[in-house]
Amino acid sequence: MGRRPPAVRSAPRRQAARYDLTSGRPDLSLFPRTAWLAAARRALATAPHEALDYGSPLGRIELRQALTHYLARVRGVRTDPDRLLVCTGVTQGLGLVCAALRERGARALAVEEYGLPPQHAVVRAAGLTTAPVPLDADGALVDRLDARAGAVLLTPAHQYPTGTALSAERRAAAVRWAREQDRYVIEDDYDGEFRYDRQPLGAMQALDPERVVYAGTTAKSLAPGLRLAWLALPDALVEPVARLKALADTMSPVLDQLTLAELITSGTYDRHVRRCRLHYRRRRDHLVAALAEHAPRVRVTGIAAGLHAVLQLPPGSAPEAELLARAQRAGLSLAGLGWHRAAAPAPAETPPALVIGYSTPPDHVFPAAVRALCELLRGA
Ligand SMILES: Cc1ncc(COP(=O)(O)O)c(C=O)c1O
Repeated sequence: MGRRPPAVRSAPRRQAARYDLTSGRPDLSLFPRTAWLAAARRALATAPHEALDYGSPLGRIELRQALTHYLARVRGVRTDPDRLLVCTGVTQGLGLVCAALRERGARALAVEEYGLPPQHAVVRAAGLTTAPVPLDADGALVDRLDARAGAVLLTPAHQYPTGTALSAERRAAAVRWAREQDRYVIEDDYDGEFRYDRQPLGAMQALDPERVVYAGTTAKSLAPGLRLAWLALPDALVEPVARLKALADTMSPVLDQLTLAELITSGTYDRHVRRCRLHYRRRRDHLVAALAEHAPRVRVTGIAAGLHAVLQLPPGSAPEAELLARAQRAGLSLAGLGWHRAAAPAPAETPPALVIGYSTPPDHVFPAAVRALCELLRGA
């Protein structure tokens, strides 16, 4: 994932690692520095003085307009600038939505049984408990949603971290649940732009924009350090979420918003995403080929999209914690699947699995990182 996990369970340690394969940060050497600078220059040169003042907690209108068109075109999201809110990350957006749901009386949020522990911490900090939903090859078993949950947090395009896509039936069932029970779905579309060899999967939000909160981010497409993300909100949540955003930090910083708006409307953002998609696809193919050759008993899953893969190790392999300790000694920073569990630890007999972020190392390090990984798996 993008952020350094807190030191819990088998959290990867990054400081000493030569090879960082913790899941899913982009290759930061791809950040379009020249294009960003040019867009920032244009944005600043043309912005009215009032753009530099306190403004709407929803964010700058230029970015909300650009995102409305971009998200409709690329992800099929149905929204308009008055229902878009710019925030400093999906992390902040999730916290705001949870706080708004808490105000409406919710006590719990259903979450996929594997997910992002820092997100779970955000949910709890907003006063909700997390209620894990089991997963299978078609994504979350949404017919098992906890009756107490005020909403369910899903990663429908590419389940984080297992990499499955939520089936059409399950998408429809989750939306039906939300409508019938007066609940919400929160769709975390964290890597929706990066799909490789499967049919495009549009956003689930299009099924019912009044029941699905759509969350998107630049954390994978540009850089997590930008802290620039957005929510497409149902009408009923616009006022509470905007009010809570104003309470949290008034609004997101304007210059980066104007720059991103410029990058999107000029078509530069599309070109950048296309370039990254190609780059990551090559990375993925390299990883898959290397594993097939050097660690053929390892099953690689979740690779049709995104910036990470899950490696399922064969039964009888060393336990996850042991593998992670060996990886650390070999200078490899990795995350185990177990670290991502929202539910109680998996049964002891569950074979270990690793979540590999193949996008993270710069190009000159990547082949050596894959070699080190294959070496580790040979001895697993
Ligand atoms: C599942 C998931 N959701 C969201 C994000 C992005 O969060 P943010 O926009 O707060 O950086 C990530 C980043 O790695 C992620 O892995």
